[in-house]
Amino acid sequence: MNAIEYKNIRMAYGDRVIIEDFSLAIPQGEFITIIGSSGCGKTTLLKMVNGLVEPTGGEVYVGGENVSRADITKLRRSIGYAIQGSVLFPHMTVEKNIAYVPNLLNKRDKQRTAEAVRKWMGIVRLDDSLRKRYPDQLSGGQQQRVGIARSLAASPDLLLMDEPFGAVDEITRASLQDEIARIHRETGITILFVTHDINEALRLGTRMLVMDRGAALQYDTPEAIRKQPANQFVQALLRRAL
Ligand SMILES: Nc1ncnc2c1ncn2[C@@H]1O[C@H](COP(=O)(O)OP(=O)(O)OP(=O)(O)O)[C@@H](O)[C@H]1O
Ligand SMILES: [Mg+2]
Repeated sequence: MNAIEYKNIRMAYGDRVIIEDFSLAIPQGEFITIIGSSGCGKTTLLKMVNGLVEPTGGEVYVGGENVSRADITKLRRSIGYAIQGSVLFPHMTVEKNIAYVPNLLNKRDKQRTAEAVRKWMGIVRLDDSLRKRYPDQLSGGQQQRVGIARSLAASPDLLLMDEPFGAVDEITRASLQDEIARIHRETGITILFVTHDINEALRLGTRMLVMDRGAALQYDTPEAIRKQPANQFVQALLRRAL
C-alpha cells in the first residue's frame, strides 16, 4: 500500500503556477528525502499531506484516503510534523509541548504520557532539567529538538520533516540523523524529509526525490541516483556530495 500518493497535482498562487502536473507514489515505510532549489515547491508538497495547503488541481491520498475528503483534525493527529524554526506553544512548558498530542489521544493515562515525554526528551538529547522551561527560555537548537520530540511523541505512522535539523550544530545534527535513522528502522514509520544538504539526503533516504521548479527530476534510491544522475541539475547537486 502507498502511504502517500500525489495524483496530477497542480498548484497556483493567483496566476503564478508553481506546480504543473506532479504525480508520485510513496510506499509505506520509506524514508524519502526531498532536495531541490529554493522555492521549487517542497514545503508546499509536504503541507498538502496534512491539509495545510490545498492543491488547485489533482488529489493527494494519505493511507488511501483522499485528503480533501478526510477529517482534517483526525488526519493531523496521526501525522507528525516537524519544521525549521520554532512552532512550539509559547505558553506551554517543554513537557506540556511534547505531551500535547499524547494527551489528546490518551487523556486518562497520565503515567503513559509522562513516560513518552521522558523517552523522547532522551532520544533528542534534551536534558531533563529543561522540562519546566518555556520555549523562550531555550536556545534555537533546543527549541528545534523539542519540536522534533513533539512530532514523534504521538507515535505517528507518518512523519513530515521540513529542514528539521537546520538550526543545530554539526555534532547534534549528526546524532539527530543517527536517531531518526534508528527510529525509522525500528518503527517502520514513513518519513518525508526536506533538506538542503545533499549529504544528509543521500545518507538518510531509502529513496530521494530531486526537484526543480515544481517538477520531480529524479526519484530513486541514493545509490541509483549516484550511479546514474538523470540530468545536469542532479549531477551538479552530486558534486557537492562527500
Ligand atoms: N501562500 C503563498 N502565496 C503565494 N506564493 C506562495 C505561497 N506559499 C508559497 N508560495 C510560493 O510558492 C513557491 C514554492 O514555495 P515552497 O515554500 O513550497 O518552496 P520550497 O521548495 O519549500 O523552498 P525553500 O527551499 O526555500 O523552503 C515559491 O515560489 C513561493 O514563493
Ligand atoms: Mg521550504
